[in-house]
Amino acid sequence: MTLQLLTPVRLGALALKNRVVMAPLTRCRCDNAGYVPSEMMRRYYAQRAGAGLIVSEGTIVSPQARGYPFTPGIWSDEQVAGWRRVTDAVHEKGGLIVCQLWHCGRLSLPEFHGGKPPVAPSAINPNWKMFSPSGQPETVTPHALTRDEIAGVVADFRRAAANALAAGFDGAEIHSSNGYLFHQFFSRDANTRDDEYGGSHENRARFFCQVLEAVGQVMPFDRLGCRLNPMMNRFHGVNVDADTVPMWEHVVARANAYGLAYLHLSEAFMPRQLDDTPHALSDVGAHFRPLAKMPLIANGGFDRDTGEARLHAGLCDAVAYGRAWIANPDLVERFARGAPLNPPDLATFYSGGEKGYLDYATLSA
Ligand SMILES: Cc1cc2nc3c(=O)[nH]c(=O)nc-3n(C[C@H](O)[C@H](O)[C@H](O)COP(=O)(O)O)c2cc1C
Repeated sequence: MTLQLLTPVRLGALALKNRVVMAPLTRCRCDNAGYVPSEMMRRYYAQRAGAGLIVSEGTIVSPQARGYPFTPGIWSDEQVAGWRRVTDAVHEKGGLIVCQLWHCGRLSLPEFHGGKPPVAPSAINPNWKMFSPSGQPETVTPHALTRDEIAGVVADFRRAAANALAAGFDGAEIHSSNGYLFHQFFSRDANTRDDEYGGSHENRARFFCQVLEAVGQVMPFDRLGCRLNPMMNRFHGVNVDADTVPMWEHVVARANAYGLAYLHLSEAFMPRQLDDTPHALSDVGAHFRPLAKMPLIANGGFDRDTGEARLHAGLCDAVAYGRAWIANPDLVERFARGAPLNPPDLATFYSGGEKGYLDYATLSA
């Protein structure tokens, strides 16, 4: 019997040859001077073009958006040219690729911003350890964005989306999750503003909606997705509280109005992440499926059989795999044949050059 995972599906304007999506994966193999995608990255993504859809690693929309070393950007001509080499290589192999647009907000360090603090909705330190060439420094109290500065960030996302199309991407995904800038606006832990960007659900979703509207001016909405991961507790400085589920229900309801290509929804996948909160959802996908009026990509801790079962249960339209794609460039073929998977090497997730990046074995190699 054919696996449903291997059948085609349409997500808005994106026609996927199968439902095995490659989740966005920051791998820190970029040139660190101009944040330009490297030749190594071209080969890495081309190796994984068997995915129904590749979501690129988080790609920063401006220098201000940066939170890590060796991560790519998409504001300069040089970066667009670098990404063009990547998207051409994926398309030549029959793949599809969207660009994940990222702003880290307060999950960043002064050393990435000429000694100045990073930005956030409010001046609240997430108290988190970050990665940098100098080790694992602690975060600092960020600068609270003014309303004019928020308008500047919205414009940065608009430019990044236009650049993504110029670079040959098939669309874009807003990284509205994982404790980064959008999540900071949604979360009461991080957003204590008393203007139109803080307080009510509507106000805390305002920045997100403004970005969707700005991006929609340069990219059709049916090529745009967004990523949500509501159940982040004690991770990246955000928590799950009594307001979390109602807030994210509001975000999904607002996103419904735009006719997006998809909602990319992560389950809690970190061990013990939800242990000490009574406000957790045990099944994020089942909760949000009936609320989302758009195709849904499920992610977080799935293997072939649990992903297939998810599709059969009608709880999603495609399944995104993260760590499995790191270690298995021919993941779709392995699923088709029921072949065992290579285990991922954690030590080379964020560094190591070609090792742990380009050298995972395929079934045919
Ligand atoms: C090395 C690594 C890098 C990641 N980078 C990103 C990223 O850039 N953007 C993002 O939204 N999620 C990122 N994630 C989260 C993954 O997309 C995914 O949600 C997570 O790995 C759970 O899926 P899995 O259980 O299939 O691995 C990253 C995860 C890993 C392990």
